[in-house]
Amino acid sequence: MKQSSPRSLFATRLGVIATTVGSAVGLGNIWRFPYEAGVHGGGAFLILYIAFILILGVPVLCAEFALGRSTHRGIFGAFSSIRPNSRWRWGGIIGVVASLMILSFYSVVAGWTMEYFIVSVKGGLSGLSDAELHASFSSFLVGWRPVGWTIVFLLINYFVTARGVQKGVERISNILTPMLFVLIIAFCINSLLLPGASEGLAFLFHPDFSKITPSVVIGAMGQAFFSLSLGIGVMLTYASYFTDRTPIVRSAMITASLDTLIALLSGILIFPAVFTYGVSPAEGPTLVFEVLPSIFNRLPGGMIWSALFFFMLFLASLTSTMSMSECVVTYFVEEKGMKRKSATALTIAVAVVFGILCALSFSSLSDLTLPFIGSFNIFNFFDYTSSNILLPVGGILISVFVGRIMSRSLLTKQLSSRPSGAPSFAARVIPFILSWVAPVLITIIFLVNL
Ligand code: TRP
Repeated sequence: MKQSSPRSLFATRLGVIATTVGSAVGLGNIWRFPYEAGVHGGGAFLILYIAFILILGVPVLCAEFALGRSTHRGIFGAFSSIRPNSRWRWGGIIGVVASLMILSFYSVVAGWTMEYFIVSVKGGLSGLSDAELHASFSSFLVGWRPVGWTIVFLLINYFVTARGVQKGVERISNILTPMLFVLIIAFCINSLLLPGASEGLAFLFHPDFSKITPSVVIGAMGQAFFSLSLGIGVMLTYASYFTDRTPIVRSAMITASLDTLIALLSGILIFPAVFTYGVSPAEGPTLVFEVLPSIFNRLPGGMIWSALFFFMLFLASLTSTMSMSECVVTYFVEEKGMKRKSATALTIAVAVVFGILCALSFSSLSDLTLPFIGSFNIFNFFDYTSSNILLPVGGILISVFVGRIMSRSLLTKQLSSRPSGAPSFAARVIPFILSWVAPVLITIIFLVNL
């Protein structure tokens, strides 16, 4: 943490938004949101998810931004520059563990996108019936290829992180993310014309409040944290590159709106097809990968669209995992004094081991459930524990730190767009949410779940 070299700051506001959105938008929107919404009953989940984005997501995002921008440090440095040698460092450790767990299972799913990209390029899916598509995905899952792709994806991550070429990847993804957005809108229109469209939309948008259970609530909260990349200091680290003129509240709102919009569009893309092609919405992690090929296969020039879509999804996944591995690497470099290359190698090696176990959770290890926890396989355990428990715990710590330990006048100044004059509405409400609402609400949700 002795680095005091001046940081090169973001040149433009667009650069800020593109980078934070690059971390936020990924498999969380296109794969995890529809699968979680499907498992948790659709509309009821959606309402809770949006409520959590507003009540917790935007304020915690502002907290990470304020802490990062004011200290110009990563999460460990930020905590210790305000409270040196304190227990707050453990907050950073939770982030490291969560990042490693997410990196492991996320890479498995990113591997699926690579398989589908290659298969689409080869035209391998065209002309297959829905049943054949289904069978080919099932037989892919039980073979060794998912393990291979997980390793390949993590190795790509290694090269990007170790060589520090993130900037290059970011530049490519800044061009491709808007294209992905356009493509999704086009596919949504196609989905809205399907015979199952009204049933699909009713499932997603018509809340059945009787379906709200503690597990739906915790799932929606976890999804809000996961999708906004909150709780482990990723957004905090990005904000350490903000200039003093980057508006915090506005940037947080834009990031959260775009991220939520892409999740909603993915839902509009997936659920009409789910009901048209007779897939169960509660299918789980494989849902999106069972439905998308059926959609693409029916489009004229389907394999070209399919290849484009999966390639962009792969890139979106890469910009998201780059931010996770960076979190772990920074820990090893700053706290353990490792060289960047060895730190990256260690991070990726751990993720490869856990990633293989996650990939095998759909085949040879599918029957291996964990003691005490019941019917979770390793993949689901990693997914559930990191997103639904560790990220919200990290969220409590960041909220309490920024709301109660960071100086209030500094926080108000960070949150105000105008440096002088009366504090804005957001600058008055957000500190209250951070010091009271967020910690109490998250704790109550945990207790009710127990
Ligand atoms: N938000 C990303 C997505 O939706 C995933 C992600 C990137 C993430 N960095 C993170 C999740 C940090 C939690 C914490 O795909």
